[in-house]
Amino acid sequence: MTPGDVSGTSSPHRGGDSPDPGSGVGNSVGGVLGSLGSGGVPTTHGEPDEVVAAASRVLRDQATSWFEPLYARADGDPSGVPWAKLAAHPYVTGWLDQPGLDVAGVDAVVVGSGLGDDAAELVRRGCRVTALDISPTAVDWARNRFADLDITWEVADVLALPSHLVGAFGLVVEVRTAQSLPTSVRDAAMQGIATLVGPGGYLVATTLLATSDEAARRWEGPPWALAPAELTAWRAAGLERLTLDHPPVTPGQDAMEVRLTYQRPDADGQPRPPNPIAM
Ligand SMILES: C[S@@+](CC[C@H](N)C(=O)[O-])C[C@H]1O[C@@H](n2cnc3c(N)ncnc32)[C@H](O)[C@@H]1O
Repeated sequence: MTPGDVSGTSSPHRGGDSPDPGSGVGNSVGGVLGSLGSGGVPTTHGEPDEVVAAASRVLRDQATSWFEPLYARADGDPSGVPWAKLAAHPYVTGWLDQPGLDVAGVDAVVVGSGLGDDAAELVRRGCRVTALDISPTAVDWARNRFADLDITWEVADVLALPSHLVGAFGLVVEVRTAQSLPTSVRDAAMQGIATLVGPGGYLVATTLLATSDEAARRWEGPPWALAPAELTAWRAAGLERLTLDHPPVTPGQDAMEVRLTYQRPDADGQPRPPNPIAM
């Protein structure tokens, strides 16, 4: 299944509020450790675990701290939010439109919900919906846009999820969130997304995927095209891949927007459609 309108989604966005590629956002923990000495973070007196924890915090902050100012600066104007389409993503609606699929009554969560259109779509399909985003401004903005809909809005960081969300959902939807985070935190973000999926539940992910690991290394973000090898993060977090959908690939193409679906096996280890979603 390949929704027609994914145009304009695979071009690298280089908005003025995005992290500077030279700022160390894409660096490894080792790289940051090497540069911490002058940054006020203990290196010589701290225990090694504390230093690694401090480095992880630096990487996490660098990777995620630009979203809130971007939404705040847009000041209610969606044209100031480069990814805002003001519509549910066609990969999400296409998945929901599958003949025989019934999500009514399912607990669903949208991760990195932005201005809220995917969350609104899930409510209209009968899901009980939680929408979470790290940006308080985005969450308020979306809440106001869809004030007539019953959605639980949460300001939350997928890199440090509150425990009440873990394993709580039959359907997890992520649209272009993993690709908006650099490699320094992407693996952890993908694992965080996976922890939201309860036994038997599904993850439906829309992301920019490089056609090879080499192409991913060449790609300049944000957004960052995920390397095919990085998809192992979701498997490592206990999910089983069901599908990978994308438009036809043209020769020489470095990346494409894809839809991936995964399922967490039930307690007995078996992937189990149609629980809780009827397919
Ligand atoms: C590229 S935008 C996509 C937004 C929306 N899904 C869409 O398609 O329009 C990525 C979103 O993820 C949110 N985000 C980034 N890092 C996050 C994190 N660590 N935890 C939760 N949300 C995050 C951003 O604030 C932003 O709204």
